[in-house]
Amino acid sequence: MPNQDSRVLAIIGQGYVGLPLAMAAVDAGWMVFGIDNADARVSEINSGSSPVEDISDQQLQASMAKGMYTASTDFSKVSQASVITICVPTPLNEKREPDLELLRSAAAAIAPHISNETLVVSESTSYPGTLRDVIIPIVNHLKPSASENIYFATAPERVNPGDPVWNQKNTPRLVGAIDSHSELRAMEFYGSICDLVVSVSTPEVAEAAKLLENTFRLVNIALVNEITQLCSTNNINIHEVIDAASSKPYGFMPFRPGVGVGGHCIPVDPLYLTWWARQSNAQARLVESADTINSQMPRYIAERALGLMQKKTDSPRVLILGVAYKPGIADVRETPVTELRNFLVDQGVTVAWHDPLVSKWENSEPVDLDWDCDVAILATSQPGMNLNKLIDRGVSILDCTNTLEIGGGVIGI
Ligand SMILES: NC(=O)c1ccc[n+]([C@@H]2O[C@H](COP(=O)([O-])OP(=O)(O)OC[C@H]3O[C@@H](n4cnc5c(N)ncnc54)[C@H](O)[C@@H]3O)[C@@H](O)[C@H]2O)c1
Repeated sequence: MPNQDSRVLAIIGQGYVGLPLAMAAVDAGWMVFGIDNADARVSEINSGSSPVEDISDQQLQASMAKGMYTASTDFSKVSQASVITICVPTPLNEKREPDLELLRSAAAAIAPHISNETLVVSESTSYPGTLRDVIIPIVNHLKPSASENIYFATAPERVNPGDPVWNQKNTPRLVGAIDSHSELRAMEFYGSICDLVVSVSTPEVAEAAKLLENTFRLVNIALVNEITQLCSTNNINIHEVIDAASSKPYGFMPFRPGVGVGGHCIPVDPLYLTWWARQSNAQARLVESADTINSQMPRYIAERALGLMQKKTDSPRVLILGVAYKPGIADVRETPVTELRNFLVDQGVTVAWHDPLVSKWENSEPVDLDWDCDVAILATSQPGMNLNKLIDRGVSILDCTNTLEIGGGVIGI
């Protein structure tokens, strides 16, 4: 049984959230077991190769060489931990409703091995009530009877993959614990890793705050995507409009338009909120409307791009530049570029893509910039893409990223 003061941490799920947390904890002097149910993920990590951009192979290898970090599929390792954090995905099901199966199975897998006095924290994003009504009952039902005092908290992760400024240490951490002893333990744990820990009165407040943060972004992106379409119809440059509005020193925050929203958070978390609203016979109308506007952006972009073709042809060829959901990373989860491509293909367009960071996407491989096309769509401005080749060839590029100079064949969104 671990001493509750021992700095041994078990992290369930070694992805974009779990692995950076593991490395931050190692830096803070914790010995970490990174537990994942995917054999391939564990082998990759143990071979010294980091699956996430924010952690370098060198950092991972150094943690392993010091004996401070190991990855494993063995859930019984949690018996040695004084703190267990759950960092598994919380996706949507086919009805676009919360799917907590992975979270439930993670709770069920750790429960039989939990030692007395262990702190269990969920970092996964979910609707208010998930810790209290889903995780705690599973753990309490399956834990060993000798493990009487288990402490629980929610500490929603705020990592922003690829962000050069904000990281585990300097991003304030929200903690909502189930009781005062749990709060103390959670504050101590996160206080050893983060510069600032903000404790709120209940886990539900922390869970709701996380949904508010990401829904705020979804709604503002939808607003700017809507205004983009109005401006474009009236030949007004939306980026100039946003820059102009940004000169107001208070009460305005700039968001930029794009192909839509992507990644594991912004397209997903607000639908946890809309589902949660429906559970109490309410409706989150603004959020639903924002979701609809963003979902229609790929189609709008595709139609704009086809409208730019200089010569009409029955078999247009479109090159998509950048398929990851945001620049600087290889993550294609929920990328809106999928809808863009699907819509174009449905219109009979031959579509190819180029992304220096992505080697395979949806069973297809990238082409190089020599690929013969009628029009190109800059969907995500990845580093390492030299588009001069295309511009010199006279290809029209629809820039959805505001990173190219407009003119000479480059048209803004
Ligand atoms: N990626 C982000 O930017 C981000 C930011 C803030 C919060 N979150 C939230 O954090 C959670 C984790 O997201 P992520 O991006 O790290 O996911 P991820 O897909 O990058 O990694 C999750 C890992 O968990 C493993 N896993 C799945 N089910 C498991 C189980 N039952 N037991 C053990 N391992 C399991 C997977 O094999 C995978 O390696 C989600 O709730 C997400 O919404 C993500």
